[in-house]
Amino acid sequence: MEKFVLASHNVHKLAEMSAILGKMGVEVVSPASIGIDVDVEETGTTFEENSLLKAKAIVELSGLPAIADDSGLCVDCLNGAPGVYSARYGGEGLDDPGRCRLLLENMKGLGTRTAKFVSVITCCFPNGDTVAARGECPGTIAYAPMGESGFGYDPVFFLPERKKTFAQLTPEEKNAISHRGRALEAFQVKLTEYFKTRS
Ligand code: IMP
Repeated sequence: MEKFVLASHNVHKLAEMSAILGKMGVEVVSPASIGIDVDVEETGTTFEENSLLKAKAIVELSGLPAIADDSGLCVDCLNGAPGVYSARYGGEGLDDPGRCRLLLENMKGLGTRTAKFVSVITCCFPNGDTVAARGECPGTIAYAPMGESGFGYDPVFFLPERKKTFAQLTPEEKNAISHRGRALEAFQVKLTEYFKTRS
């Protein structure tokens, strides 16, 4: 089984990535499991840039193919915020529920509640090759958090066609439609092509 190191400490991302990439014979391991402990600074201004920064740093440190997801929530009435700053929205002191509250607060009185989650997956190989794919999931921002599963902004990300937030879906339901699920699907197609050209 080919081993990819995930350029993230996020256990939720590891679970979501493993579930999908495991099916194509790729084992996804955490940096900690191979003795790497590093926080890559996300200095880019796009999901693409940050995703590449993270994957590059880990391939260099580990010598193994490294896979990174840079993701975030883009809210239309906030001009795309929190965007690439989703994990740091409101500063260091806030936790996930705090960031959700801040988002709802900042949207008070503003019109449209449309938003999208974006994920860009990048894999860097030790030989310098890269494979990348983007996925998006459109939705709206709920007026109050709902649901217990998932992480981050899941409780406030509402899917009008399902009348549920991401946090009210099972992991399988979320993976089937989420930005990360879609990016991974596109990534899977590109990776299969890449494996073909490589052999
Ligand atoms: P990063 O990709 O590690 O820079 O952080 C992405 C941030 O966006 C996370 O910390 C969450 O706040 C948010 N985010 C990304 N994907 C999801 C998701 O699937 N559900 C909820 N929040 C997410």
